[in-house]
Amino acid sequence: MSPRKLADTARALLANDKGVLAMDESIPTCNKRFASVGIPQTTEARRAYREMILTTPGLAASISGVILCDETIRQQKKDGTPFLNVIADAGMIAGIKVDTGAVDLSAHPGERITKGLDGLRERLNEYARMGARFAKWRAVITIGPGIPTRGCIEANAQDLARYASLCQEAGMVPIVEPEVLMNGDHTMERCQEFTGEVLHAVFHQMFEQGVLLEGMLLKPNMVLPGLTCSKQKSIDEVGHATVQCLLRSVPAAVPGILFLSGGQTATLASARLNAMNQKFSAPLPWEVGFSFARAIQQPALDIWRGDEANTIGAQHALNHRASCNRSARRGEYNASMEKS
Ligand code: G3H
Repeated sequence: MSPRKLADTARALLANDKGVLAMDESIPTCNKRFASVGIPQTTEARRAYREMILTTPGLAASISGVILCDETIRQQKKDGTPFLNVIADAGMIAGIKVDTGAVDLSAHPGERITKGLDGLRERLNEYARMGARFAKWRAVITIGPGIPTRGCIEANAQDLARYASLCQEAGMVPIVEPEVLMNGDHTMERCQEFTGEVLHAVFHQMFEQGVLLEGMLLKPNMVLPGLTCSKQKSIDEVGHATVQCLLRSVPAAVPGILFLSGGQTATLASARLNAMNQKFSAPLPWEVGFSFARAIQQPALDIWRGDEANTIGAQHALNHRASCNRSARRGEYNASMEKS
């Protein structure tokens, strides 16, 4: 591993206020999204959808890199051009999701552990040979009665750190994604408490595993009240609680934080990211950006619906969200942008 190369890739993903587009939904997750808008759940529909995204004119003005899944990284445009060439020709960086999903954690009812460490070294080397320069692994933490437990937090933190260390060995920047889920009626304060606890555990394990902090990126949840919590919070309250939590738990050597959207609406995700960069940015040691999936893709998917005739409208929606989020990175996003 070359520390310089890893740090350069991490910096390139953060450069010019751009963000990373997560388009790495597994086959079942992509099928679920398709089913919700009446698109057939076929290999060809998934390929066509990813082609629509990757050929969006001007996408690279706001997007530095894209995260693919194993199916997509091996696919081509209808004319036979490999997606990896499309990404490189547009000036974007290809990344790959390498976890293989979450399963129930034994002896921990209601909690999940992410799979994918078996054979990971070999898979990473193959993806690196194909041209991927960064990777992603998502762990999920649920808040509920009596959970999360230390057992669940520690197991996921250790696996995230093992993954990150293997990525760096293969010359790839690990995006480390510990997601405290929005599902539930918990308060924002509980989310802040557990997000902080999870991040402390993750960085402790990364220290133990010798992960180079300058050569990784963190992809956390924003600190939010649960979806069904009766005490919802203002945009500024969320921005403040999130920044406070991260300042208490993320080392300054980490170059950037790329939030996941986690089921927030597209506009709220932009507004909250904007608040962090506009009002709470002065003391921040890292760049604060985005690596959204749903909050960038959903409006485009709603327009596309599997019909080629809707491609231009869907690409316009995709570009719009990407560019709103780039503005939010600068603290220049405002609601009037949604009208135009
Ligand atoms: O694994 C999930 C993605 O990395 C982020 O997706 O923005 O829809 O939460 P999301």
